[in-house]
Amino acid sequence: MSIGLFTDEVIDHFSNPRNTGEMEDANGIGDVGDPGCGDTMRLYIKIEENVITGLSFKICGCVAALASASVTTVLVKGKTIDEALMITNKDISDALGGLPEQKLHCSVLGEESIRKAVADYRSKKTTGGEAYICYHAYN
Ligand code: FES
Repeated sequence: MSIGLFTDEVIDHFSNPRNTGEMEDANGIGDVGDPGCGDTMRLYIKIEENVITGLSFKICGCVAALASASVTTVLVKGKTIDEALMITNKDISDALGGLPEQKLHCSVLGEESIRKAVADYRSKKTTGGEAYICYHAYN
């Protein structure tokens, strides 16, 4: 069953997003945005002994972007760095039961945020910066 354009999985992650908010002890941060629509996302990751043991996110975006960010944190948790880097936006969309064609780009934020957060971890330039546009505070 689906509501309008979106699957039950999308609505579930949108209504009850997992792992939201800032992570104080993150050792990797990935900031991404889509210049076409203006949506932005920040992914925090905690890596211990090559395994991504924790994730959280902030987002200023649409329903599909929020759901994609939420499911990204679920997909990546417990993966090694190499495994996490193999996750594509199609994997993210599939985990949501599929996204409408015009919303597929929203899942790209999830994929790109993983790559940027890992790159940040590897460069050891984690800033923990506060600059962000907005945050959808759920719960
Ligand atoms: S409309 Fe651009 S990320 Fe959703």
